[in-house]
This record gives sequence, C-alpha cells and structure tokens, in this order.
Amino acid sequence: MTIKLTGPLQGSTSVPGDKSITHRAIILSSLAQGTSAIRRPLLGEDCLSTIDVFRRLGVAITVSDEQVTVTSEGFKNFKEPVQVLYTGNSGTTTRLLAGVMSGMPFRTILAGDASIGRRPMERIIDPLTAMGVRITGSHNNSRTPLLIEPSVVSGIHYEMPVDSAQVKSAILFAGLYAKQPVIITERVKTRNHTETMFPVYGIDISVDDHTITLPPGAVEQLKAGDFTVPGDISSAAFLMAAALITPGSDVVLNHVGINTTRDGMIDVIKRMGGYIEVTDVTSTGEPTATIRVRYTEHLLPITIEGDLIPRLIDELPIIALLMTQADGTSMIKDAEELKVKETNRIDAVVEELRKLGFKLTATHDGMIIEPGRTARQDVTDSRGDHRIGMMLATASLLLDEPVTIKGFESIAVSFPDFMETMNKLGAQ
Ligand code: S3P
Repeated sequence: MTIKLTGPLQGSTSVPGDKSITHRAIILSSLAQGTSAIRRPLLGEDCLSTIDVFRRLGVAITVSDEQVTVTSEGFKNFKEPVQVLYTGNSGTTTRLLAGVMSGMPFRTILAGDASIGRRPMERIIDPLTAMGVRITGSHNNSRTPLLIEPSVVSGIHYEMPVDSAQVKSAILFAGLYAKQPVIITERVKTRNHTETMFPVYGIDISVDDHTITLPPGAVEQLKAGDFTVPGDISSAAFLMAAALITPGSDVVLNHVGINTTRDGMIDVIKRMGGYIEVTDVTSTGEPTATIRVRYTEHLLPITIEGDLIPRLIDELPIIALLMTQADGTSMIKDAEELKVKETNRIDAVVEELRKLGFKLTATHDGMIIEPGRTARQDVTDSRGDHRIGMMLATASLLLDEPVTIKGFESIAVSFPDFMETMNKLGAQ
C-alpha cells in the first residue's frame, strides 16, 4: 500500500471499541449461561478470533456493527472441539483462553499464526502449572501450540514477575474454577479490565492497591451481563498524534476509554506541551471522555520510563513518532516488553522510521529519539504488526513523498477503518 496523507485533520469522530475490553466481554458472556449483549464492540480480526473460538465450543454469537449478542448454555455445556482452537494474531486470545480452558473436562489445543508462535508462553505456563493446570507448550514449554488437559485447578498466591495484564488475566480466568482463593500481587498496575468486568458478570473480586483477590468457587457466581465498550485509547492515539503533528489540525474524539491503567498517552501529551482537552468524563464502570487535540508547533522532548510504561505500552510506536517532532532528544526506557509484542517493536519502530529518515537509536530497553531527518528510502514494512502499519501511515503526514508500506492490511487487527477515519477527518 502506498500512502500519502495530507492534513489538516479537523472535525469529530468516534474510534473503534476497545480491543482488550471486547475480548473480555466475549469471554465472560460465553462462559455465563444466558444471553449477553456487548454494545459498540471492536470487530477487528483479533476479537473475531475470540468469537470464532467460542463458536467452536458451541456458543451462539451474532455480530452486527453496533452489537455482539452471545447466547450460551454456559461453560459446563461447552462442546469438546474437534480442531485446534486457532487464535490468529491475538496474544490476548491465546493467553486468556489458556486460563479459561483449564477448567474444561476435555483436552484443548491452542495455536495461532507465526507471530503468536514466536511469543513467550512460559509466562502463563508457569503460574498455571503452579495452580495444578496440566498445560504444556512446544519448545520446552515456552511456545504455542499449547495443550491443556483436564485438570483440578487450585488457588495460588502469585507475585507477578512480569508486568502483564494477559498473564494476570490468564490466572484470574483459571482461578474462577479454583476451590481456594486466588491472590495476585502486581509490581506495577497493569490494565485492570478483567477486574472491572468480573462484577458485571456477577463475580466478586476485590482489589486492594496492587493485590487482587478472587474468592473460592467464583465460577458458580457467573451470570449473563451487558456491557458497553468504550472507544480504544490505543486506536485514538494515532489520531491524537496525527493532529498534534499536522499544522491546522483540531480533532475531537468521542467516547474514548480513559481507564487510569491505560491513559499514559494523555500524560505524555501534556508533558510534551501538546494541546489536549479532556472533557465529558464519565466515571461509572470503564470511564470515558471526549478528547480534543490540536496542532502544537513546539513539542518538548521528554523521557518516559518506570510505572508509566504499562499505562501506554501499546501506544509506544506512535509516541516514538510523536517524539521525532519534539524540539530536542527524547527517550523511552524500561520498555523491554516491546520486544515480545506482535513483532519486536523496539527494532521495528527504530528500523522502519529510520528508513523514512527519522533519527532513532535502539537501546536494550527502549530507544533514543532525536529531531530532524536524513535521506529516506521508499519501502517500509509493517512486519505484520497493526500498530507499526498505522505508525508508518501516520508518518506520511510529515513527508513530502508517499510511503510504501508492506503488509498494511495487518491494521485490520485493531482498526479496520483507520484510513476511512483519517479521510473523514480530512486527511487525504
Ligand atoms: C493486553 C495486554 C497487553 C497489551 C495487549 C493487550 C490485554 O499485553 O499489550 O495489546 O488485553 O490484556 P501484556 O499483558 O502482554 O503486556
């Protein structure tokens, strides 16, 4: 795909539903007996992978633009699958389902695409094994395919060695079947959508600072629920960055999720001196807001690190592009987790933006980003990673010549209407 976006971006739009929240709503709606409605879901490829898995287990799921309706006979009546449960490109589907399937009276095999096959799975195999789950993986228990055999799941007190909401959630989903409490302590708070959604589906869960406690036998509390999914701040981030770097832009994004475990990008924009207004804040359930962003001529260089990183982990590719427009050298630190995303995002961001002449240097845990530009090449590569594809398309706003992006279709994972939304805001 050859792209040359030209601004300014103006007007208001909504953004696609939150990916993490849509996955969790599909999972809980499928486990519960009865009919559940998920409004404004994300219908990107990752969430369709989760829907497909539950259809294979016998759950009836209908999909329209505005709503996913799930009618389930409950997890006790899931059908034993006759095929591998295929999780596509979705790490969330793969890891959360490993927890979900650990309570089933039959064998399950979970496997995804080539990118999933490269991503670490010992981070879930280790705690699930400690909970009595009979789970094994290829490559000496470190990769998919994962084989999960009928197990008696027990409670655990787990101190998280990685800052990962997928790991935390795999443990919580497995913990639903445990007859003992499940206690998880996090070093840094990661996205808490599983914890906020459990009560909507009838499950008691308590959170005290960095410690989460799930009571024994929680699965028996499950009931059908309804959930309205906020817009995904991780998708909004591309539009926010696009407006900040494109002269004349003034964009309003409606109904964006601003959960405090996800809103690090807003802090970054404020620290860089970017124009951002957050209004219409709702506070029940998953909080949302209207976000207005305008072009800002002078952006300040900053360093981001530590506890902030999990609050913007998926936004780092587009934040790196934003930092190329600051008036000095910026740094991203403590972000080793980027190496185990859909692709190695430290290498992908640095190498692909360098092809376009931007000045970035990889470090062991992040990158250094300098202003200015040198000579560029023509062809870049999304490396099959949706967020790298959208970062490169957004970069074209800063360039005179078009950008050719290999594998641009990967954007369908999280933001299938990305180009239409850009066009709607006037970026042609
Ligand atoms: C997600 C958690 C994060 C994030 C991913 C979605 C989730 O991954 O990067 O896009 O829905 O729990 P980790 O938990 O591996 O950090």
